[in-house]
Amino acid sequence: MSSDTAQRPVLVVDFGAQYAQLIARRVREAGVFSELVAHSVTADEVKAKNPVAIILSGGPSSVYAEGAPDFDTSIFDLGIPTLGICYGFQVMAKALGGEVAKTGRREYGATDATVVGDGGTLLAGTPADQNVWMSHGDSVATAPEGFDVLATTLATPVAAFGNAEACFYGVQWHPEVKHSDHGQTIIENFLHKAVGLPADWNSGSVIEEQIAKIREQVGSARVISALSGGVDSAVSTALVHRAIGDQLTAVFVDHGLLRKGEREQVEQDYVASTGVRLITVDAADTFLGHLEGVTDPETKRKIIGREFIRAFEKVQLELVEEAKKDDGAPIKFLVQGTLYPDVVESGGGSGTANIKSHHNVGGLPDDLDFGLIEPLRTLFKDEVRQIGRELGIPEAIVGRQPFPGPGLGIRIIGEVTKDRLATLREADAIAREELTAAGLDQEIWQCPVVLLADVRSVGVQGDGRTYGHPIVLRPVSSEDAMTADWTRLPYETLAKISNRITNEVADVNRVTLDVTSKPPATIEWE
Ligand code: XMP
Repeated sequence: MSSDTAQRPVLVVDFGAQYAQLIARRVREAGVFSELVAHSVTADEVKAKNPVAIILSGGPSSVYAEGAPDFDTSIFDLGIPTLGICYGFQVMAKALGGEVAKTGRREYGATDATVVGDGGTLLAGTPADQNVWMSHGDSVATAPEGFDVLATTLATPVAAFGNAEACFYGVQWHPEVKHSDHGQTIIENFLHKAVGLPADWNSGSVIEEQIAKIREQVGSARVISALSGGVDSAVSTALVHRAIGDQLTAVFVDHGLLRKGEREQVEQDYVASTGVRLITVDAADTFLGHLEGVTDPETKRKIIGREFIRAFEKVQLELVEEAKKDDGAPIKFLVQGTLYPDVVESGGGSGTANIKSHHNVGGLPDDLDFGLIEPLRTLFKDEVRQIGRELGIPEAIVGRQPFPGPGLGIRIIGEVTKDRLATLREADAIAREELTAAGLDQEIWQCPVVLLADVRSVGVQGDGRTYGHPIVLRPVSSEDAMTADWTRLPYETLAKISNRITNEVADVNRVTLDVTSKPPATIEWE
């Protein structure tokens, strides 16, 4: 999977645009493994990775733009098939002897491109006129020697080019975005037809490769994994279990801030489907004790984070002691559900991580280092879900919407108490049930349900006056949670949720809808 295994990647060179990750995903959708590298990659580093092909991503609007990122152009001498996209296309043109004209003319958004002749291998099978997504300033005026012009637009004489002999191709537009018609065909033409790569990378091959890798890494040692109930830890734990069976112990800390049914889902459905050996730590009272009287959201987060580590370390220590007593193999590894976007965003990508366990339970010996097993390090979220399905994890867990680590603790505005948690848990369960019943799960990124515990308002129910709390529904649509818009839910669904919550949940006499985008608001209330 990564460069230290037999899998040879398509290297996607990131010039700093948000499109590089998208290109990497599109390559994988075409059944070919891809890996992102920074534009500062050197020819020697590329050689060491032994890629089957290179794709240069978009970036600034022009190679002449101020601070335009450099690229080691001796990489073009390595003879590796290359596709340049947008900025990458201009980098290629300039380095290989073409001309990039400082026209200052811009093309942004939907543009008509005209295919020249048969469009070469790159544009084969796509229509003569097509809608493409552009985002550039200056343009390639002359293709390098040996290159054929494959497409033009009104403003750009060379909108795509190719040199079949060298297997070098380029497009000025963004084939990776859905707004470009036939974009995926172009990427697949490059990979399958021009380079000749088979479509043989899929979640099944990932599972097999990871299992072999984990077995080699772990040997006979024992491993522990923290399950949170979320997708990433559920899938990484199941994958490690598939590889090493009962050498793995999973630990699930119930902090009392979970949603209705989540503990049962993990303890029953997840265990039944995977066969994982699970220890549940019942820490609700400890967490609630520490949260007593606390209303500040940051303080709540800190307490929950701290107590989580304490609870986990306590079990860890017990397991280490137990392993010593029964003369078994030592515990040497921790599983983490780190995903590729986390790796890329923290500037990583290579190197093996190793963490020292925290010592605040006061028991772990100083020299106790745990190696990390991160089997999802090269994967995107949708790929992780697919692998989870193939491992037989229940859909209720694999398809789960994002849920914050501090759980319902940050969705109660005000002090967190047992009664308030019970109230919010019921309201949240009703909202989730109705959204699923209305078939809206795919449309919604997530829908936090919030209890305004410090607010009361007057209501009337039966023949009595009530003085209850409001519940806020916060349905949002988003691609990555960085920005979000409020989801326009059908009135009937909203009415049903509102009726059911006010009728079925004691102490709640109002349901309100949050109609704010992010920014300016965040997704969670806190
Ligand atoms: P905000 O509220 O910042 O949330 O717009 C963005 C996304 O992050 C999730 N979130 C968390 N996830 N631990 C997590 O694992 C946390 O502490 C946490 N806080 C917020 C939130 O649900 C949304 O998807």
